[in-house]
Amino acid sequence: MRKVITYGTFDLFHEGHYRLLQRAKTLGDYLIVGVTTEEYDRTRGKLNVIDSLMTRIENVKKTGFVDEVIIETSPGQKFRDIQKYKIDVFTVGSDWRGQFDYLKEYCEVVYLERTKNISSTMLREQNRPILRVGIIGTGRIAERFIPEVRLVSGMSAQGVYNPHTESAAQFAEKWQIECYKKKEKFYSAVDAVYVASPHETHYKYVREALEHDKHVLCEKPMVLMRSRAEELFVLAKEKGRILFEGIKTAYCPGFDKLLGIACSGTIGNIRNIEACFTKLENSSSRELNDIRYGGSFTELGSYVMLPVFKLLGTNYERVEFDSIRGENGLDLFTRATFKYAKSMATVTCGLGVKSEGRLLIAGTTGYIVAEAPWWKTTYFEVHREDMENVEKYSERFLGDGLRYELSDFLSTINGSREKECKLTRDESVSLANVMEQFLKKEGREVESFII
Ligand code: CTP
Repeated sequence: MRKVITYGTFDLFHEGHYRLLQRAKTLGDYLIVGVTTEEYDRTRGKLNVIDSLMTRIENVKKTGFVDEVIIETSPGQKFRDIQKYKIDVFTVGSDWRGQFDYLKEYCEVVYLERTKNISSTMLREQNRPILRVGIIGTGRIAERFIPEVRLVSGMSAQGVYNPHTESAAQFAEKWQIECYKKKEKFYSAVDAVYVASPHETHYKYVREALEHDKHVLCEKPMVLMRSRAEELFVLAKEKGRILFEGIKTAYCPGFDKLLGIACSGTIGNIRNIEACFTKLENSSSRELNDIRYGGSFTELGSYVMLPVFKLLGTNYERVEFDSIRGENGLDLFTRATFKYAKSMATVTCGLGVKSEGRLLIAGTTGYIVAEAPWWKTTYFEVHREDMENVEKYSERFLGDGLRYELSDFLSTINGSREKECKLTRDESVSLANVMEQFLKKEGREVESFII
């Protein structure tokens, strides 16, 4: 008996899939189809699969060509399956031509001509209009945004706005997107806005965008004042628009896994969290020179507070700060301590002091540790009293990681994902509240933000 195997996502099952399976079957007597899990697809950058695994399997089976369906969960699996199932022919569409030649040592490899003018991507785009995203700001973060948005199907970078029209024009030229000189034109050309301007302008732009009925993804810290965060979320609700604060860690798959394990009871009750993030900045950077809104805490505080609020909640009893300041008075290194009824947390961040950035979550029966850069979580360990007993977890983190938050932003807008699943409104408001308390303690004016 000649055994044939093929693999695919088979999302929104279409004629191309049908014809591929039909021809695959004729290459032998027994056809096995590997259908990818959503998690595996996410790790290889396919972020917007619509049909559930069950539906995709059902659709593959319904063709009547398939003798056995298996699940594909990891990159090295094909090679193992070929040996396990004693496969004679591996086949896949011609869009993969050459990429599986390495399997020729183990079986025959056949690339079947792809059916023209149809793909799941095309159907996903037809089903839902592409979300046109406009960018406000042209700094470092905005530069990282464009290559990432291009990886998320269902979204496109429409254009850019920056009151400094020269920077906007250069940015638009570099990335081949529209440059809008007039704000009204910008708002009327986009469905959603990504705010990547300096901290103190976030409030104004988020408000404006929501008033123009746009969905908003705003870089962290969204605002530096509690009442303003609350006001923006109320406005978003009134307008029926999605407002996300973009702390990329919150949306990254490895961090999600870490939170799940920390909450699962595997380390008992959480009693202490330590989170540290430091980086050395150029002495002429905005972060070290903007004496009103710069410094280590406004820059990095959102990251280190995130695991604390996620795992211990936002109802702490008190927070205290200590800082080391540079000559201009800006904090180069800040430590904030949160006291809860039954636990505590210490978060530290530095721009002018370098330390080992790690996340440590201590529980009553064990602890979790993730080393730097834990804010782009790819690896962590669970330790217990018995030092031999260490569980190791890893997860992929691709590119700059913005693709994960963009994908969640899009799914939430399209209603296919539960609202607020990764960073809640309450957490965002609490982050703004701590920022406000910190700035007040530093004697910096919180009220005078540009409106
Ligand atoms: N396929 C095909 N003809 C098409 C589309 C897909 O022969 N028009 C084949 C692929 O080459 C692959 C299998 O069908 O062998 C499953 O492909 P999959 O990636 O699930 O489908 P796509 O439509 O290519 O999906 P996407 O647009 O998400 O990449």
